[in-house]
Amino acid sequence: MREIKELLQDKHFINKIEKLKKMYPEKRSALLSALHLCQSEVGFIPEEFQEFIAKELSLSPAHIKGVVTFYEMFYEKKKGKYIIQVCRTLPCMLCGGEVLLDHISNKLGIKVGETSNDGKFSLVTVECLACCDKGPSMMINETLYTAVTPDNFDSILKELK
Ligand code: FES
Repeated sequence: MREIKELLQDKHFINKIEKLKKMYPEKRSALLSALHLCQSEVGFIPEEFQEFIAKELSLSPAHIKGVVTFYEMFYEKKKGKYIIQVCRTLPCMLCGGEVLLDHISNKLGIKVGETSNDGKFSLVTVECLACCDKGPSMMINETLYTAVTPDNFDSILKELK
């Protein structure tokens, strides 16, 4: 992951933002793509980027903050190397999701919304991951896991370095 100051001075990155602005009839429509781009480079969306993109898209900083905080997939603070996203929607919770979430929390010693002291794991909950018939479901970064039991989770954890 990169530092935001470095990113905002990178001509290649700024060109990508310029291209995004031209892709839409109104430049403000580039906001979600720009936020994804920032998060993929930095790991989260710092205030500096929010201010930068507000100016670029002629939007208010409050508007940007509203969007960043509305969507669960955007983070305002640095997360761990592995972001564990456990589905908290009813079907998953009814088939073991609650037990799984407690297990993960106890195993890693962090609560939902926290990051482990070593910076390796962040635990968050999300709404339906579209695998309701195979719950409990979770994602670790970009990988989806279904029918996860506490034992399954322990095995998956061993594979993560
Ligand atoms: S309810 Fe968990 S994946 Fe849909």
